[in-house]
Amino acid sequence: MKIAVFSTKSYDQEYFEKYNDAHQYTFSFYETALNSDTAKLTTDSDVVCVFVNDVIDKATIEVLAANGVKLIALRCAGYNNVDLEAAESHNIKVVRVPAYSPEAVAEHALALILTLNRKTHKAYNRVREGNFSLKNLIGFNLHKKTVGVIGAGQIGATFCKIIKGFGCNIIAYDVAENQELLELGVTYASLEEVFKRSDIVSLHCPLNKHTKHIVNKTSIAEMKEGVMIINTSRGALINTADAIEGLITKKIGYLGIDVYEQEENLFFEDLSEHIIQDEQILRLLSFPNVLITSHQAYFTKEAMDQITITTLDNIKAFKNNKELTNEVK
Ligand code: NAI
Repeated sequence: MKIAVFSTKSYDQEYFEKYNDAHQYTFSFYETALNSDTAKLTTDSDVVCVFVNDVIDKATIEVLAANGVKLIALRCAGYNNVDLEAAESHNIKVVRVPAYSPEAVAEHALALILTLNRKTHKAYNRVREGNFSLKNLIGFNLHKKTVGVIGAGQIGATFCKIIKGFGCNIIAYDVAENQELLELGVTYASLEEVFKRSDIVSLHCPLNKHTKHIVNKTSIAEMKEGVMIINTSRGALINTADAIEGLITKKIGYLGIDVYEQEENLFFEDLSEHIIQDEQILRLLSFPNVLITSHQAYFTKEAMDQITITTLDNIKAFKNNKELTNEVK
């Protein structure tokens, strides 16, 4: 099996090589993202392995099909970047890693909340410079605050269990209710109600046509003054321009994002010596109450192990004509 692995960093390569003994696949590792231009690199590949910001649209899939690629193996959970209809029409299967470590992402959401609230990132720098003042470092207790969870699936449910330990009231909006969460004391409410009542809104639903820009001018207007919004799911759940407006008017008190609408041009790269052209991220970076991480919520050793093992097993099942349990249709 020849596998072209796109958007590869040294750590991806390290993990694939760590687990390849049992498979003996031939990898071609490419740093570049997969798109309709770079798809030409797949001429001798059976499988492409891709990540969150690869563009697997109709044009890309046509090139992959012409080159004889038969499987798209996503090494992530979300599949919003794949044109599934185009893949099916070219008889290319799509597999993903549905759950590798919900704890990794849920814990990172917590890290964003605690950092924004208790300002440990600012305190760290201050104290290192001999500044022991507490001015402007005041936070708030999480205890008894209302936390709204949009999408209480694997990550959202794990997040609920963690935040419950802080003594928060949890309200969730989802298209399906989870009995375990009801028993934990989570109550379900309409989307409007969750926006209206929450001190903290944490997004954990997938990106699709129903959820795109679920946080927008109208929903921000419904939220509490000074609300904290956390997004570790997908950038386009938030209308960035509307969030910037909400920050300017102080309606949004805190914004913590691990994902960003235009992240494919920025995230995972060292651009410290470049002139960044994205005006919206520059504006977001100018706010003292905005914390941005570069899509790193998944990035723990445990998650990387599981992502690699599941991806290689997905490819093995395809190679051996076994049922594709992680197929996306
Ligand atoms: P999941 O499929 O277990 O849960 C998603 C939940 O969202 C389900 O309960 C589903 O019913 C609900 N949902 C679907 N449509 C909805 C809608 N229109 N409104 C409200 N809820 C809706 O997925 P999981 O594993 O919890 O992952 C959630 C998302 O997290 C992924 O789709 C992905 O975008 C993101 N993610 C981000 C990572 C990161 O590193 N930042 C890593 C892994 C996932």
